[in-house]
Amino acid sequence: MALERTFSIIKPDATRRNLTGKINAMLEDAGLRIVAQKRAQLTKAQAEGFYAVHKERPFFNDLVAFMTSGPVVLQVLEGENAVLKNREIMGATNPADAAEGTIRKSFAESIEANSVHGSDSPENAAIEIAYFFSGIEIVG
Ligand code: PPS
Repeated sequence: MALERTFSIIKPDATRRNLTGKINAMLEDAGLRIVAQKRAQLTKAQAEGFYAVHKERPFFNDLVAFMTSGPVVLQVLEGENAVLKNREIMGATNPADAAEGTIRKSFAESIEANSVHGSDSPENAAIEIAYFFSGIEIVG
């Protein structure tokens, strides 16, 4: 099967608790390869643009405030079925609903501070990767 790429963010609640290495180990143990990674402090404009699809939702301003509250780690993950595989290892958006052994069950604090973001489709993965990375930064 062909390799696929997905986009991932380790969110401010997780960088604050120094969990980047533990989360990366879970991604790698699941068979995903981190082919690009950079730490960043998102600006309000960057976060608003990234989450523009959610701009009418009641939690939009809170989500943007949270995502700019501290450093994030932006990643491109590669592997077979990378989009779906990453969604599985992340677990449900609300940690109360997340399965045992998932990143969110293990680390998330709330539906807002839920430690990781992952693209929900290959089409959105391509858009999200291009939002933060240039081709030369991705080494498969
Ligand atoms: S998903 O994955 O798109 O189906 O999840 P969804 O429930 O639509 O949520 C989209 C993103 O919004 C975040 N979220 C919230 N933030 C703050 N407060 C509340 N109540 C809330 N509900 C959802 C959720 O963590 C998703 O963030 P990302 O970064 O896309 O995972």
